[in-house]
Amino acid sequence: MVTPFEKRILEERQRMSESSDSLRRRVEELAPGAKSKEVLLKTLQYESSGHLDFALFPCPPVIDHGEGATLYDVDGKEYIDLHAGFTVNVLGYAQEEINQAIKDQLDKVIQFAELPMEPRAELARLLVEHTAGDFEKKVMWAVTGGEAVEIAMKLARWYTGKPLIITHWGDYHGRTAGAMGLTSKAFMMAYSYPVPPMDSGIVKIPFPYCYRCPFGKEYPSCDLFCADQFEKMFESKETWLNNPKARVVNVAAMLIEPFQSSAGYILAPLPYLKRMKEIAEKYDFVFISDEVQNGMGRTGKLWAIEHAGVAADLITAAKSLANGLPLSVVIGRKEILDSWGPGAHSSTFTAYPAACAGGVKLFEVFDRDHILESAAEKGAYFLDGLLDLQKRHRSVGHVNGLGLYLSIELVKDRRTKEPAAEASAWAARRLLEEGVICIYSGYFYNRLCFAPPLVIEKEAIDRALRILDRVLGEMEERFQTQFS
Ligand SMILES: Cc1ncc(COP(=O)(O)O)c(C=O)c1O
Repeated sequence: MVTPFEKRILEERQRMSESSDSLRRRVEELAPGAKSKEVLLKTLQYESSGHLDFALFPCPPVIDHGEGATLYDVDGKEYIDLHAGFTVNVLGYAQEEINQAIKDQLDKVIQFAELPMEPRAELARLLVEHTAGDFEKKVMWAVTGGEAVEIAMKLARWYTGKPLIITHWGDYHGRTAGAMGLTSKAFMMAYSYPVPPMDSGIVKIPFPYCYRCPFGKEYPSCDLFCADQFEKMFESKETWLNNPKARVVNVAAMLIEPFQSSAGYILAPLPYLKRMKEIAEKYDFVFISDEVQNGMGRTGKLWAIEHAGVAADLITAAKSLANGLPLSVVIGRKEILDSWGPGAHSSTFTAYPAACAGGVKLFEVFDRDHILESAAEKGAYFLDGLLDLQKRHRSVGHVNGLGLYLSIELVKDRRTKEPAAEASAWAARRLLEEGVICIYSGYFYNRLCFAPPLVIEKEAIDRALRILDRVLGEMEERFQTQFS
């Protein structure tokens, strides 16, 4: 007998899985050319449908090569890249100096058993010396962002001897078994059935998504009401966080994205982040900034948390460290990183030598070409363009931007803020057809996010804004009965 609960789960599974036939139909209808179609059909024939590609795009582009911030697919179609592979390709494509450094290392030795090598030690030095914070620092290497997050969790619990990790609803920290407990995405929960993420030491609090404040307040007149509510959780014995009478705080760490990336490039107010750090200091737990997506210069500073004028105890970084090769790291307080012993964590491809060699060169280019300053300046220019679009398009309810980390939120009505999800999906698809690759996301599937390689030219930003202007106009026309 199937219970009503099981029936609902089965329906949900049915809704989430999509047959190869249906994916093939998408390819037949939408592939931009014969070569793209051939590769996509081969992919569908031989690869699991569980990959991300067809979740991100109705018909994913088949990239052949790139140059700077421009991509070309296998049919020769040109795209302005406002995605950068979720910020991986920070200095763009075919960056000769970085590619040469990687090739040179490959010719020397590709990999050997996680053992120390010169480029890795040098990149550790560069990361430590470039990271703000008036205290001694070290790094611990890994391969993926999710793994860096898991190291940070393990390390914070090891160092403090405490169980709880606080994070935000809406944060994304990866999909490995440990990191998945921190990540909030309802559809991912369904992939855990019948065993939910097993870490019972994770506590989630609302993220300060001020455009849709979870407490119904307005920023800044709210006076950071959300932060006060959080601190109240430490005042009584009725939460897990603290037992004031016994003077036992159970929290090992707060591990957050300073700005929520996968949830739609949403900026937290900087005073909120500062306040979180103060609370961490007051109750003596580790403050961890997960900068896998918004670190490495994306926001115009090396690390996003620097904007709040505070230094995190630990930072997790990955994606952009080596301009495209897999590499991740935890950077932070020496006393935390030195609190455990040899072999505490291991992963075969840790600190992949070619990736480290690329990372060393990347820092050289960052310093020489003033990449941070230029990202801040181009980001301000892009933001002005988006604010201008907001004046002319009633559908643009909200604009966020810091450096080259930008987004717009599309709504049916600016007063009610009703999400324009269907129209947003249509706009994302039209942008791709028009040769603009961006990130489509949002709590309500209604945010378009822009994260170009930091080397994008202003001329390409102008072109992208013109296309966005046209597509928003078409969208408002097509869905006019939905907009007021
Ligand atoms: C903030 C953040 N943390 C962690 C991760 C996980 O990184 P990876 O996919 O390399 O495991 C991501 C990936 O998007 C991320 O954006």
